[in-house]
Amino acid sequence: MINPRAYEGKVVIVTGAGRGIGQGVAQAYAARGAQVVLAELKEDLGSSAERIITKQGAKALFVPTDVRDPEQIIALMKTVQERFGTVDVLINNAGISSFGSPYEITVEMWDEIINTNLRSVFLCTREAAKIMRRQNEGSIVNIASTRAFQSEENSEAYAASKGGIIALTHALAASLAHDGVQVNSISPGWIETGPWENLRDIDHVQHWSGRVGQVGDIANACLFLTHPDNRFINGTNLIIDGGMTKTMIYVP
Ligand SMILES: NC(=O)c1ccc[n+]([C@@H]2O[C@H](COP(=O)([O-])OP(=O)(O)OC[C@H]3O[C@@H](n4cnc5c(N)ncnc54)[C@H](O)[C@@H]3O)[C@@H](O)[C@H]2O)c1
Repeated sequence: MINPRAYEGKVVIVTGAGRGIGQGVAQAYAARGAQVVLAELKEDLGSSAERIITKQGAKALFVPTDVRDPEQIIALMKTVQERFGTVDVLINNAGISSFGSPYEITVEMWDEIINTNLRSVFLCTREAAKIMRRQNEGSIVNIASTRAFQSEENSEAYAASKGGIIALTHALAASLAHDGVQVNSISPGWIETGPWENLRDIDHVQHWSGRVGQVGDIANACLFLTHPDNRFINGTNLIIDGGMTKTMIYVP
């Protein structure tokens, strides 16, 4: 039986925690007694997420961070170490999506997506692991996407960034195992972060689970993968999509 108090006093960094999935994940750890660090690009989003969590009597600190910038990632880890002494959990969640024809996408657009979504996962993990290895323990979850496995047209850069996260996850799990650091990824399907009431019936019923995904579905999975009883789960990817990627489609 999982001990719900396992996160009390743990130091948890969530990137892109100003809204959406990242905010929900941060709230889930904070509600269980963790000290969460909101590493967010946008000042207004980071401050408001910090306010929402601290108003609930939980512990959150917004550290303005652009995960595209290696120096800011190093500064983030330094701040966290100085303020809280260590890092126990890292959720690499920050990401952007932008679609465009492969004939038209520029090198700058390609680099923007890869650096935000993929390079940041490597750099944040490397810098956090330098701290985690001192206690020979740490748990990292990288947020990929079901678009690592299936595609619509014009999604090359985003798909490549998310596919890269899957490979990077098992590579890092192999390298960091010697230091007690566990690395897994989650591939969400459709997780609604906007107004729920705007969804149509067809949006829900096309999922085997009978509904579109919610932020809490991903937060629950992060809690599960980073729970100390689950250290045997390592280097793997958990798809959370209500069954969409397993659905066989034939045209009738
Ligand atoms: N929502 C979905 O259906 C879905 C599905 C699959 C995967 N994902 C992935 O989950 C993650 C979160 O998605 P979301 O829907 O909550 O997105 P979102 O756009 O609502 O939130 C992303 C957050 O990341 C922040 N961010 C963006 N660039 C950043 C940077 N350079 N440095 C620091 N923070 C930055 C944004 O300001 C924002 O607060 C992303 O990696 C996304 O690719 C989402």
